[in-house]
Amino acid sequence: MQIGICGLGTVGSGAFNLISGNGQEMKRRIGRELTIAQVGCRRDHPDCDLSSTNVTRDIFDVVKNPEVDIVLELIGGTDDALKLVMEAISNKKHVVTANKALIAEHGDEIFGAASKRGVQVRFEAAIAGGIPIVKAIREGLAANRVEWVAGIINGTSNYILTEMSEPGRNLAFADVLKDAQDLGYAEADPTFDVEGIDAAHKLTILSSIAFGVPLRFDAIYTEGISGITSEDIGYARELGYTIRHLGVTRNLEDSVELRVHPCLVANSHMLAQVNGVMNAVMVGSDAAGATMYYGAGAGSGPTASAVLGDVIDIVRTDGVHSVANLGFMPETLEPKRVMEIQEFEGSAYLRLVVSDEPGVMARISTILGQYKISIEALIQKDARGGDAHVVIITNSVLEKSLNDAMQELAGLDETKGDIARIRVADFS
Ligand SMILES: NC(=O)c1ccc[n+]([C@@H]2O[C@H](COP(=O)([O-])OP(=O)(O)OC[C@H]3O[C@@H](n4cnc5c(N)ncnc54)[C@H](OP(=O)(O)O)[C@@H]3O)[C@@H](O)[C@H]2O)c1
Repeated sequence: MQIGICGLGTVGSGAFNLISGNGQEMKRRIGRELTIAQVGCRRDHPDCDLSSTNVTRDIFDVVKNPEVDIVLELIGGTDDALKLVMEAISNKKHVVTANKALIAEHGDEIFGAASKRGVQVRFEAAIAGGIPIVKAIREGLAANRVEWVAGIINGTSNYILTEMSEPGRNLAFADVLKDAQDLGYAEADPTFDVEGIDAAHKLTILSSIAFGVPLRFDAIYTEGISGITSEDIGYARELGYTIRHLGVTRNLEDSVELRVHPCLVANSHMLAQVNGVMNAVMVGSDAAGATMYYGAGAGSGPTASAVLGDVIDIVRTDGVHSVANLGFMPETLEPKRVMEIQEFEGSAYLRLVVSDEPGVMARISTILGQYKISIEALIQKDARGGDAHVVIITNSVLEKSLNDAMQELAGLDETKGDIARIRVADFS
């Protein structure tokens, strides 16, 4: 089995060096040497000694190379990456990728072609970096009916929320984002991470491998963390919660819940203890119960570890198994409706800025009562300029009713600006 590496950036260089560094350890496990037949990169990487490696500046040479059995697609993006992967499959080469956008958006096409050609496409590194969550669900929990998956799957967002939550610092989102960019934890254009798109790609894939449903990136509900304020974090803390950006997918009778957004997580819950750039995923399944997986979600070493884990699996299973790239045999994937967010039911945190006048609380309670929304917890605080902050945790309520109630609350003469709403996580 010979490997062709396409892309020599953070992950590609990590994979290259892991093969050289841990080659003997891997040989002890699989009984065969992993060799690199060719590396495709537009320029050398300062951390990689390529002196005895066949290097090409055209990544498409790698997928044409008859010596290459397994192509590592580590360039990112969805244009060239899709062309590269489809050409590799058409040339009967197995593919390992770290590219969540590619799998979430083009997985059906890629897996369809791979099944026809009898090759494997593996993507462990695409979700939660060094955590072997795909293997845990696809193999370790394969005897279970998976009921739900919930996790912190974007390290940049988690880093920002963790820093904003440092007691007494009251840091604004924009300031922490700038620090994260300076430290290399956030991209120059952070949109994919902070607006939840990266997490949405990952959750789309997790949902498919957990429940055996087709990839539905087109239908996922996506909300990022850019609207979270230090005030919300402070009020959540007073109420016993930590704010985290979660991906949650649930297998319901006639639909699948598929959503990424900020959540209030009870301080006592393990996911509230996941700090900084770390990732964690919990899986609820019928036989094993709830299990949790924690580790580094990105970085050269952790991601290369996942890439090489996939390579080793391919070496071990080549020619032995029929291909179930998404963990279920392709003909058994069950299309299911993705639940509209309006149908979602759960508790929510609301924060209103109101002019501090007599009777305003009564008017708020009346509107909530009209929509059968009760108040589980309440904080009222004086704010600047004669205003007050009213913070409410509601009972479990249908999202549509809450939206309607929020619209009426926003229309009160006393209400100023937008009403903040953050859903409360429920793992029952
Ligand atoms: N970084 C992580 O921690 C991490 C974690 C999990 C998953 N991933 C995924 O892994 C993939 C790679 O990420 P990365 O962080 O390693 O990116 P990166 O550091 O930017 O490296 C990408 C490499 O691919 C090369 N490349 C890009 N487009 C190319 C093209 N059309 N032709 C030839 N070479 C091309 C780049 O070359 P130039 O330098 O010449 O542009 C660069 O060497 C992405 O899909 C990413 O989402 C990354």
